[in-house]
Amino acid sequence: MSMQPLLDVEQLKTYFYLNQNQVAKAVDGISFSVFPGETVALVGESGSGKSITALSIMQLINKPGKIIEGSITMNNQELLKLKPKQMTSIRGNDIGMIFQEPMTALNPVFTIGNQITEIIRKHKKVNRRVAEIRAVSLLKVVGIPRPEEIMKEYPHQLSGGMRQRVMIAMAISCDPQLLIADEPTTALDVTIQAQILDLMVEMQEKFQMALLLITHDLGVVYEYTDRVMVMYGGQIVEQAPTKQLLKLTRHPYTQGLLASLPKIDEDVDRLGTIKGTVPPAYNFPIGCRFATRCPFVMDKCKESNPELKELDTGHFVRCYLYEDGGSTNDDD
Ligand SMILES: Nc1ncnc2c1ncn2[C@@H]1O[C@H](COP(=O)(O)OP(=O)(O)O)[C@@H](O)[C@H]1O
Ligand SMILES: [Mg+2]
Repeated sequence: MSMQPLLDVEQLKTYFYLNQNQVAKAVDGISFSVFPGETVALVGESGSGKSITALSIMQLINKPGKIIEGSITMNNQELLKLKPKQMTSIRGNDIGMIFQEPMTALNPVFTIGNQITEIIRKHKKVNRRVAEIRAVSLLKVVGIPRPEEIMKEYPHQLSGGMRQRVMIAMAISCDPQLLIADEPTTALDVTIQAQILDLMVEMQEKFQMALLLITHDLGVVYEYTDRVMVMYGGQIVEQAPTKQLLKLTRHPYTQGLLASLPKIDEDVDRLGTIKGTVPPAYNFPIGCRFATRCPFVMDKCKESNPELKELDTGHFVRCYLYEDGGSTNDDD
């Protein structure tokens, strides 16, 4: 792609210093870009480093965590060099974020109206009345019925789906160029999940935002995203345009994630689930981080960690099975 990236992350490392001899390498050298208007998925099981990646971009990492290396640029501006005040302005104005559990992001003691107008006024120099009008129209945009009444209500009075709609309204209130959604539908029931994802994509198109969608569900990726990055053990193990990734899945981990998706007409649950669990971030194996669970593990996988290599245009894989640019699972 010749277009300038909107967001560019290079060799980002975010570590948690748990005690004198334990360091959790939550994010361990990841690089990726998000282009204007694009929808990119960041996928992986729980504990793979997805949220810490998002929080690093927002610079919301707290002790004992620390961004120790790398670069994060937005429109060519280095975010890691900004003063806290400048970063506050980036959050909201340029990057909006939606979290998994809206209850933790909303303040229980203020009305919905208060919270949205507050955010609008923090970033735009408008008076209360103008902010309120904008708040009501945003609630309308995200499909909230009777927005004037909802303005006067408190978060606990709304359903989970409605709360997530409010969060989306707040995240897009200042027209960000990038929206980061961290498992935005995980806490919701299935029918509401689809509605919220549809709404996000609708908002993305309407406001021409780029969307970084974090999820543990490859099923969601298939329907909603242009490009996928698969994360395991704090690193990207496979990255490709969505269609290509699903057509020719290269990394054994991604293959495992796909196999564990429930299939239509199949009530036996999760036949292909990957055995074992993600190794703890303070104790990764020396070699490939997936070696302990990989059905194709070879000796060298236990000795050193493979590099992320581009096999076809835009399709990157971190796996020794493809050392010579070969592949194990295509039919030609
Ligand atoms: N507050 C924290 N303190 C210590 N370690 C943490 C903290 N937050 C995250 N980690 C470490 O980072 C890893 C990745 O976390 P996270 O990004 O939240 O995973 P994901 O969002 O993919 O489920 C965790 O498995 C853990 O080892
Ligand atoms: Mg997470």
